[in-house]
Amino acid sequence: MNSRLTATDIVDGVNLRKLRALESKFTHWQTYAAEAAGHTRRLRLGASKPLRVLDLGSAFGYFCRACTLLGHDAEGVDDLAVAPVYRVATGLLGVYVHAHRVSVEKPLPDTVTGLYDLITMHCFGLPCCSRQEFKRPIGAEFWPVYAETISQILRRLKPGGLFDSIIHYDRVGWLCDRMKWAKMVGDRGTGSIEGNIVQVKIREG
Ligand SMILES: C[S@@+](CC[C@H](N)C(=O)[O-])C[C@H]1O[C@@H](n2cnc3c(N)ncnc32)[C@H](O)[C@@H]1O
Repeated sequence: MNSRLTATDIVDGVNLRKLRALESKFTHWQTYAAEAAGHTRRLRLGASKPLRVLDLGSAFGYFCRACTLLGHDAEGVDDLAVAPVYRVATGLLGVYVHAHRVSVEKPLPDTVTGLYDLITMHCFGLPCCSRQEFKRPIGAEFWPVYAETISQILRRLKPGGLFDSIIHYDRVGWLCDRMKWAKMVGDRGTGSIEGNIVQVKIREG
């Protein structure tokens, strides 16, 4: 498989007729598969050793499928109770997804075991991290809940592992605050923020 995947590579062998039947007017495989392919290039996944990957908010599963095509071991997590269509889509794409709603009370399901090399969270909905009702728009007061959730998720990374998150920057610029991330990560690793991409690299052993 070409290490520089395209959207078309990602759906190669997938029943596109069935996949299209699941799309709404906002979801088109070309867009989301192209984004997933872009993430694999940005993260240089085509050139890395096989990694264990967990994609939070995996939706249709394009990113997981892209990782698998590049030789990685990828699983998704998504709230299938809210969007059962993702179960069908990930079935078509051959992606394993843990049905779970990420929250501060229970960040990851019991079915997620062991440690990962890469945990991704791309354009993940925000009200997500608590069972409490947060009135929109969510503001900086939400940070402690969010930070606690992410802090727990970071514990599931191997030494040297990477957390890669894309924030809905236009709506929640307060999340891209270096000081807040640095404090949350502490001496476990280093955080970096470039535009709306937030990464945390866990310290090597
Ligand atoms: C905007 S979509 C992004 C999908 C994909 N990651 C991408 O970048 O194209 C957000 C995804 O996060 C999922 N999601 C939102 N809140 C969640 C939660 N608390 N637990 C699990 N999944 C959640 C949604 O169901 C949806 O699939």
